[in-house]
Amino acid sequence: MTLDLFDNLPEPDSRGGDRSEAIGPGAMVLRGFALSRASALRDAIEQIQAEAPFRHLVTPGGFRMSVAMTNCGTLGWVSDESGYRYDPLDPDSGRPWPAMPAVFAELAREAAAAAGYPGFAPDACLINRYAPGTRLSLHQDRNERDLRAPIVSVSLGLPAVFLFGGARRADRPARVRMAHGDIAIWGGPSRLFYHGIAPLSDGDHPLLGPLRLNLTFRKAG
Ligand code: SIN
Ligand code: FE2
Repeated sequence: MTLDLFDNLPEPDSRGGDRSEAIGPGAMVLRGFALSRASALRDAIEQIQAEAPFRHLVTPGGFRMSVAMTNCGTLGWVSDESGYRYDPLDPDSGRPWPAMPAVFAELAREAAAAAGYPGFAPDACLINRYAPGTRLSLHQDRNERDLRAPIVSVSLGLPAVFLFGGARRADRPARVRMAHGDIAIWGGPSRLFYHGIAPLSDGDHPLLGPLRLNLTFRKAG
């Protein structure tokens, strides 16, 4: 066997190490990047949800979202009949969102740096909870003030199919399997790409049971 067999393969990407996969321009998945911190993340989520319980938000069109959500950080993403926005207060309690735990902020910063986005300092973390059958339809993340910062999205619990499309809603999305501990990062040329989650399959995860949790880190303000 000679090395020319491999001549047509892309160069391995030095950013993110050998467990990274490009999924689009400026977009990649870091396999297992959060694994060693998964139980610390789970414990932190339990504390956050004790202060700011998961809830099903209503879309501007009046539909109840099947994904349950809460937030931590100085800004939280919320939706109601009047639209989508970032709010420093939890509308259910009138209090600020729980602070972003250090383990969250550090993981997000390290993952962004490994994907080629150094200096990421998120001020918002949306926590999504999916039960089997739950989906998140194709959308753009576009309520953030500064679109230079990437999105960092951490998957925990049951595996999901991440739909990663293009700049137009009609662009056919790639189907990317996201397992427990995987992190997707998109920014730069793909910052406004459409994305979503296909209906979650049944399952029972050893750490989280019949659930998927997702942490989406953003620089929102
Ligand atoms: C999101 O698009 O905000 C979350 C996607 C996911 O749950 O992986
Ligand atoms: Fe999103």
